[in-house]
Amino acid sequence: MHDTHRDGSPRRRQRRGRHAPLLLGAATLLCLAGGAARSDEPTAVAPVYAPKIAITVCGTCHGPDGNSTNPKFPRLAGQDPTYLAAQLKAFRSQVRGDPDAISYMWGMAAELSDETIDALAAYYAGQRAQPGAGGTSARISRGRDIYEHGVAAQGVPACSACHGSDAHGLQNFPRLAGQHAQYVLKQLASFQSNMRNVAIMHGVAQNLNLDDMDAVAAFLEVQP
Ligand code: HEC
Ligand code: HEC
Repeated sequence: MHDTHRDGSPRRRQRRGRHAPLLLGAATLLCLAGGAARSDEPTAVAPVYAPKIAITVCGTCHGPDGNSTNPKFPRLAGQDPTYLAAQLKAFRSQVRGDPDAISYMWGMAAELSDETIDALAAYYAGQRAQPGAGGTSARISRGRDIYEHGVAAQGVPACSACHGSDAHGLQNFPRLAGQHAQYVLKQLASFQSNMRNVAIMHGVAQNLNLDDMDAVAAFLEVQP
């Protein structure tokens, strides 16, 4: 799916690697992964190393079990493994290129082999997602209405049609239940402006106003 919206712009390539602090994380990751993370090595070790990488490297932002507490860092626990693997590949190939993706994830994903990506995806998919808390009940009920019915007057489709009635997602449609509202809001704005360039979600978000984005994000955060 991602190959279709790769834009390969020179701007993106130039911006790679300008964030020095992350080089430390990337170096740690390479040490931990050792030969296991390289694509030319035997693959059987990836499932053994992946949880170590997840806990000691990725865990500093995403939480050791993927239930991050800082709303800037998305929750990964219980996320669909197909979606996780696709996103890690999109960071690695520099297709997913909004500023936070560039700053935080391009370096992290740069040296991951397909096998390590699959093993990391399996690790997070196997973790139990903890529901978030927050939002007022009026916001949440407005958000539920948008999630279940869309906003017909603005041509916004129901989110549940793709993300599932329980918001648990399936394959390329990510789980949204329990995700930090701040992260969801930011992604919706990124899809709208095409900074995160995905045609299907641009179509959904293009006519969604900020207030409705905020409401649907508040609803999603408290879903189990
Ligand atoms: C220094 C903090 C940091 C570290 C370390 C880090 N990440 Fe991230 N990660 C982020 C941020 C910030 C985002 C959101 C980027 C955006 O807004 O587009 C993100 C996004 C992601 C996503 C996309 C989630 C989604 O719902 O679309 C995945 C998957 C991911 N990271 C996996 C990992 C893995 C695996 C590692 C370890 C190899 C890792 N991250 C290490 C900060 C970090
Ligand atoms: C036609 C199907 C479809 C509909 C309808 C849809 N989505 Fe999506 N959504 C997707 C797909 C596919 C992705 C994964 C995009 C990618 O591969 O990067 C996605 C990704 C997302 C993400 C990013 C998740 C993450 O972890 O980074 C958010 C947030 C999101 N959708 C919210 C919504 C909301 C809110 C609605 C309703 C207003 C909605 N979606 C309706 C298909 C859909």
